[in-house]
Order: sequence, then structure tokens, then C-alpha cells
Amino acid sequence: MNKHLAFPLLLLTSAHAQPLDKTVIAEGFHDPMEIAVAPDGDLFVTEREGRLLRVRPSTGGIFEIGALKVEALRASDPNSNYAREDGLQGIALDPDFANNQRIYLYYSDPEKVLDRLSRFTLKDGKLDKSSELVLIEVPTTRENKVCHHGGSVEFGPDGLLYLSTGDNTNPFESSGSSPIDDREGHEYANAARSAGNTNDLRGKILRIKPTETGYEIPEGNLFKPGTPKTRPEIYVMGCRNPFRISIDPKTRNLFWGEVGPDAASDTARGPRGQDEVNVAKAAGNFGWPFVIGNNEPYSRFDFATNKVGEKQNPAAPKNESRSNTGLTDLPPAQPALIWYPYAESPEFPVLGKGGRNAMAGPVFYHDSARKYNILGPEDDKTLLAYEWMRGKIFKAKLDADEKLKNLEVLADGFIHPMDLEMAQDGTLWMLEYGSDWWFNKNGKILRLLPSSGNKPPTISIEVSSADANQFLVKEASDPDGDPVTITWWLTEGATERSLGTGQTASLSGTTGTEVRAVATDGKGGIAIARVSLVKEKALPQLILDIGGQPKSLNFNQEVSFAVRAEGLDSSKVTVRARYIPPTGHDAGGPQFSTDVETLVTSKLCLACHQVAHPSVGPQYLNVSLKYRDRADAVDYLKGKLKNGSTGAWGEVPMPPQIAVNDEEANTIIRAILGLADGISEASGSASGKLKLAPQPPDAAPAGAWEISADAPGFLGAKFRVAAEK
Ligand code: HEC
Repeated sequence: MNKHLAFPLLLLTSAHAQPLDKTVIAEGFHDPMEIAVAPDGDLFVTEREGRLLRVRPSTGGIFEIGALKVEALRASDPNSNYAREDGLQGIALDPDFANNQRIYLYYSDPEKVLDRLSRFTLKDGKLDKSSELVLIEVPTTRENKVCHHGGSVEFGPDGLLYLSTGDNTNPFESSGSSPIDDREGHEYANAARSAGNTNDLRGKILRIKPTETGYEIPEGNLFKPGTPKTRPEIYVMGCRNPFRISIDPKTRNLFWGEVGPDAASDTARGPRGQDEVNVAKAAGNFGWPFVIGNNEPYSRFDFATNKVGEKQNPAAPKNESRSNTGLTDLPPAQPALIWYPYAESPEFPVLGKGGRNAMAGPVFYHDSARKYNILGPEDDKTLLAYEWMRGKIFKAKLDADEKLKNLEVLADGFIHPMDLEMAQDGTLWMLEYGSDWWFNKNGKILRLLPSSGNKPPTISIEVSSADANQFLVKEASDPDGDPVTITWWLTEGATERSLGTGQTASLSGTTGTEVRAVATDGKGGIAIARVSLVKEKALPQLILDIGGQPKSLNFNQEVSFAVRAEGLDSSKVTVRARYIPPTGHDAGGPQFSTDVETLVTSKLCLACHQVAHPSVGPQYLNVSLKYRDRADAVDYLKGKLKNGSTGAWGEVPMPPQIAVNDEEANTIIRAILGLADGISEASGSASGKLKLAPQPPDAAPAGAWEISADAPGFLGAKFRVAAEK
């Protein structure tokens, strides 16, 4: 009867963090946002640009079951100021999904400027758009780089539906402190109009009870229905970007990660920026934009005169903004459960330092009757918090009063963990967003199970060279020597069809989109290999003309160019000439040495930068092109790493890179500046002149020039000409 008798014994064996068994079950998602686990074990996934997918873990099948038209940032206009973080956000399945096939989606309307929570019903397994029942509309703004949508949708065990919304505020014009710009025309940079406003749905966690035809307000929300200047849907107010939320299955307490502002240090205006992990045992105000972290107040601040005013009182914060349509006197601010800055946290050093994006996953309870327990019985009642930037899951052990007893790393090495859900059987599902900030195509779903000691099989497949409809196993094995069974699957629209078992599979006249081979080892180990049957649509080709076909080109020579293609916007053209030395192999473009690559990876630079394609921060090649001729470039850029940067490339700031010491900064900056060696570039015009690079001091004559033209939406042109002294 008392299963806790086993407790002291098990404590010994799990005193060290157990490694988890991580298996990639599905991959190739485009900026995936949130997952929901269905009663049959399938997973539903939303993608930022509007697709809804269903994933079948047993076969690795990925099925597109619908797409919503949404407002979202697109690759065709990556620098748009408009609607930066809009899109299809969160998803939840109805508690009675098995019977009613209902799902809830939160998305940005493509025409009206608002975010909407709607209920849809699946019909024949697909999203039936005509079934839409609108529940909540959250008016937003989209201009001026406002961001933060929250966007997490979850049901509690009591059938109440929670939706997190962001402050919809531009964070780039308040020096990383509190965005409370009260000047006329600056409303977009004022979170007092949203998160701090009791009469506005933004910067909140809303709680409703869905009914057949809409929703009711449950007991215990922050304001009694009918209270003037308030919205009854508000459960928690004072949030900045409550990105991922979770509800304790036993206590019904609400947890969320709160992504905080950027200030690197304390100032008269207020404390340094901090992320938070929060718990609400009851409805409450969590402070933003007047109070942050462990109830640290911000000062009032006049953006017109730069005058710092009186500090807010966390016990009785006031919203005095002219844009406030709600109450002036706000409920007392609640402190965070966990809070941490960019620098190492004095209170929670195990969190490490550097970039931050706090998220809340499920609360683990040990249940010996369940198939899997990711942690031991001594970890009963542990919040699994995770970090999008730091790529880690943390165990936050809680006591009976929801106070933190202990904080440890559970697992590491995830690529921007975006969502974490626990299935009925105890399986932990991790959604990885992908390596970049925008336009990922490498989002993944990982299955996390308690370590079993079993090693999974491996498999790779190929299309037969003789017959395009024949698929073969190239390699399949199991490190433990377990016998491997291979099953083949064909994805057809929103379903899949078995193609049998064995070393080969063949197709006949099909409209399928993917062939998959699934290797299993009989002990739960699984590996999946995929071949896409979809041919990418060809882009129109650019034509690059440099006046005939010169046999060779000299260092320092001027080359005239003209780029043509139908519908080409010449302001988006980039023409580049790259010198390729005659010896050694050509990497196909500028790249770091392995040492530098390892260094910038370990310092998390690549979370925001790529060598030669755009990300949140500028591509390093462009940094090199911009500064390589500047005498003080090394010191200047080292200063940027130390103090952070804003305005050099845009309004998105780079936080101070405190994990980098002086010597490392030297190495990295010199390597960045060296990336453009031998490269010259002309951009913004379809015709003009390009001066080729000077001869590198130690390069032998000869080698080649690679001349290329690129423009977004076109297939680039590229050719080589011999280099001469
Ligand atoms: C959280 C995202 C982020 C991380 C992490 C990050 N950067 Fe940046 N970085 C940016 C952004 C955004 C800019 C553009 C800032 C601006 O416009 O001034 C930038 C700019 C730069 C610049 C150019 C500064 C200038 O004045 O032109 C350099 C060099 C740079 N980063 C190097 C690094 C290195 C090295 C690392 C790792 C140690 C790193 N960054 C980590 C976002 C980031």
C-alpha cells in the first residue's frame, strides 16, 4: 500500500543526474512553435508560418493536416518592422479530444490586427476551417518592431483553458530597462498600455472555461466579472513574454517562464534584466513593467526629459500612464520562483550565464504504475524548467508550499528547446525550434526516456540507382547486436501506408510525399531514415554578365558587371568576387577554422550569428566586409562584445558577451575580420563595377576567381575565371 517504502533505496541509485535516452523521432519542421500530445500517442505541432502537422511517433510519420492563413514574418521580407513575432502560436487539444476531435489554436489574423484563440474540429483527421468557433480576440499592434506574443495554450486538469499573451511592446527603445515610454507617438514602446493594464488582454495569462458555444469565466480569476476597468478573463497580469506555460496536474498551480529585458547592469531606472520562472498558486499581478524578478521595483522615468522619478512600490504598484485604460492601483506584485540575469546568478549559479529565454515544462510526479518515470521517487513534485538559449532542462524540486528546494541540470545539448510535454505513459516530448532565430527548416521532435542502457539501432537508406521507385537499406545495424526489424512507410497526404518490411521497398504510381524506413531493436530503440519524394520548385535563374568570357582576371582589377532576370529588384542584388588560392581545398565559401568554430559554438555566438547567411545578428562575413579596412577594428569590436551593441545593424541589440574573456575575444574578432580576405562585394545595384581583392601577401599567383550574383527569390549565378598575377 505504501509505495514510498522504496524511497531510501532508490535515492542511492539516482543521486547523480541520470542521462536521458534521446531519440529524434521527426525532423524538418519550419519554425515549430508548440506541441500537444493526443490520447493515442500522436503529437500535434504548429509552425509559425501557419502549418498544422500531426506526428506519429511509432512510424516517424509527419502529416500536414491543415494550414491557417496567418500574419507572419516571411523569408521574402526578413527585415520587416511589421509583425515581427506574429504567426501561428500555440495549440491545445480538448480534454475530450478522443471523442470530439476539437483543437484550440492561437494565431495572428492575416487582415485584422489581432491575435485570436479559436476552437476547430478535425474532420477525417484534417483541420476543418469551417468549424472555427472564435473564443478570444486580442487586439495588438504590428508596427515598429513590437514583439512578444506569449502564445502558449494549455488545459488544466479541471478543464480550464489557459492562454498566455505577450506585452506586444517594442523592447529596443528603453535601454533594456522598463519600456514605459509615455510620450505621444511612442505607445508601441509602452508596456503600461498592455501588460500593466487591467483592462487589456496583452501581457497576461488568461483563464476561461470553454463551453459548447463559447466560454464562461471561472471562479477565482483576478477581477470579479463586472469590475469596472478590468477584464474578467485575466488570471495573471504583469507579464512581458510568458512564452511557455504548464499546469501542475495535481495542485493545478500555474507555472511559466518569463522572458525578461536586456539591461546588463543595474541603473537608476531599475535592476538589470532578468528572466523568471514563476508559479501562481492563485490569481495575481507579477509586476511587469513596474516590478521584476524577486520583486525589484523599476523607477518612474520620463522619456522626454530623461528624468528618473520615484521607485514603484511592489506592494502597491501604480499604473499612471496616459495610455492606461484600466485601474491605476494595481494588485501587489508577486516575486518570481527563480530569477536570473545574463551574468551568473548569485542565487542560482547552476543556471550558468549568457543568453536567456526561460520556459516552464511539466511538473513531474512519480507514479510507479506509469510506464516511464523520467525521474526517481525522490524527485516527486519537480518542475522541469528549460532554457531556449542555453539548451538545457533543469530539475526544480519543489516543497509542499511550491518553494524551491533544489535546482539541478537534468539534460543539456538541445537546439533551442521550444516546448516540453509529458505524455500519459510518462514519455517526455521535446520540440526543438532549430538552429536559427527565423526560417528554420531543421526543427525536431525528440523522445526523452529514462536511460535504459539499451543503444538504439542506426539506419540509412537510398533510392536505387537503377529504378527511382526502388528504395534500399544502405546501412542498418545495432551497437548492442540486437536483431533489427525494418518497416517501410509511405506518407500520402494526411495519412500513411505500409510498404512492408525488409531490405527494400518499391512504389508504383503514387502521389506520396515521403518514403521512410523505421528500424527497431525490439527493446524500444528506434531509428528513422527518410527520402522526400517532393521536388523543390525551381527558382528563376539570374544571369550574370561581366563582358564576354575573360580567360583570366588580375588582382586589383576592376570588373564591370550586369545582372539580369525578369522581375529582378536591382536594389536586392549582391555581386561578389572571391579569390580561391591554387593550393589546398576550397571550402565553397568563407569559414572559420575548426578551433574558432568550436570556440564560437561554445560561447553560443551561433545562436544569433551565422558565417554567411542572415540570422538575428549580422552574418560574420558582412561584419568583416564592413570593418576590415578600419585600423581600430579589433578594439572596436572587442568593445562591442564586452558592452553589447545596438544600432550598428538594426535595432535588435546584442547583449554583452560576458562569457568571453579578452584573449578569446581577440581570437574570435580576428577570425571574423579575416573571413572577407580575398573577397570583394558590390550590392544594391544590378550593374556597376567591382574591384577585385589585392593579392594576399603569401599567396602564389594563379588560382581562380569565383564571381557570383545573388538576389532573394532567385537562383544565383556563379562561375570561375583563372587568377593571374
Ligand atoms: C542574443 C543574440 C546574440 C548573441 C548570442 C551574439 N550576438 Fe553578436 N550581434 C547580435 C546582434 C543583434 C547584433 C547587431 C547589433 C547592432 O546592430 O549593433 C550583433 C552584432 C555583432 C557584431 C558586430 C558589432 C558592430 O558594431 O558592428 C559582432 C562582431 C558580433 N555580434 C559578434 C558576436 C560574438 C563573437 C558572439 C559570441 C561571443 C555574439 N556576437 C553573440 C546578436 C547576438
